Amino acid sequence: MTDFDKIIDRRHTDSLKWDVADGELPMWVADMDFETAPCITEALAARVRRGVFGYENVPVEWRRSIQNWWKTRHGVDFSADWLCFATGVVPVITSCVKRLSNEGDNVCVMTPVYDIFFHSVENTGRHVLESPLHYDGETYSIDFADLERKLSHPLTTLLILCNPHNPVGRVWSKEDLAHVGELCFKHGVKVISDEIHCDLTEPGVNYTPFISASKICADISVTTISASKAFNIAGLQSAAAVVPDEHLRNVVIRALNSDEIAEPNSFACIAAMTAFDKGGEWLDNLRRYISDNRMRVGEFIGKELPSLKLARQQATYLLWVDCSAITDDSEKLCEHIRNTTGLYLNCGAKYRGNGNRFIRINIACPRATLEDGLARLKRGIESYSANGR
Ligand SMILES: Cc1ncc(COP(=O)(O)O)c(C=O)c1O
Repeated sequence: MTDFDKIIDRRHTDSLKWDVADGELPMWVADMDFETAPCITEALAARVRRGVFGYENVPVEWRRSIQNWWKTRHGVDFSADWLCFATGVVPVITSCVKRLSNEGDNVCVMTPVYDIFFHSVENTGRHVLESPLHYDGETYSIDFADLERKLSHPLTTLLILCNPHNPVGRVWSKEDLAHVGELCFKHGVKVISDEIHCDLTEPGVNYTPFISASKICADISVTTISASKAFNIAGLQSAAAVVPDEHLRNVVIRALNSDEIAEPNSFACIAAMTAFDKGGEWLDNLRRYISDNRMRVGEFIGKELPSLKLARQQATYLLWVDCSAITDDSEKLCEHIRNTTGLYLNCGAKYRGNGNRFIRINIACPRATLEDGLARLKRGIESYSANGR
């Protein structure tokens, strides 16, 4: 069993997250400072010992592992042929944006949202059409009137949904999802539902897969899933597109193949299969650890940094912190915190919407690292409030 308190030195290991100056503490990109589940490391080691790393097929067991996990964990039956292997969620999204919309079209997203969605849209010559989520001072909800206005625009052809939603941490309800599906169907808009964070809900909170919200939702959507966030295996490049509709599925398969993102490396399927077949208990322990970290941050902020407020979240290990009492320029705030304390956070502005008043903190780290981060945060916020603005 993984010791989540164990500190692993990731400096100078070519880790994207830890490519920082000595003394800096990165709590930004969605990558955890924990070893993955031991069952995954053992399966990969056995694969390495085979010593031959030629071209690979996607094994039939890969489909079975995913089907079984989603059925037992998330109460949805995937048919085996709905599943298309891909080398990552972002590659699927970009590929689908290119196939399912035309240059110059609008792709709708609910902001603040995972910033790479903007890249997938804008780098391919489409426009991002934001439907800002409604923030009531504690949590976010979908502004359906605004969403329908955006979907009804004649050039809107695609919606990218994030469920659970990074960075605001909402797990959308079945009713919300069905309503989104209904509006998209009414206005001829296809949906990409990015569900990469679905296994990182708070203990006791279940997510609803978009395709199980209604028949319409299933018919008009491509869902992206992966073991990579929950099991910390992003570097192994393994994901899937789930497409129930046969016509849409064939379009997606063509897209993934012409973009050359449909073939696995030697470790991708083994890691995913082992995660889904044997990683359940490890994951539940991880979720409890993250939940305790979340509580600790809540308690710390309440006591030591009352000018900040944690948004109410039900998923992800990415805390969304309301700094509106001290700034509406989160970029400047994050720069100040990094320059004065070495703590590297994500500034909320890059997620657009009302993100300019928020910071995002990755709490998937050992408790001692978290305490270091909190102490730095306190120093950074206090000096910003005193003289940094
Ligand atoms: C919502 C969301 N989608 C996709 C990704 C990245 O997926 P991948 O590494 O499989 O491309 C992330 C990573 O943080 C994410 O938060």
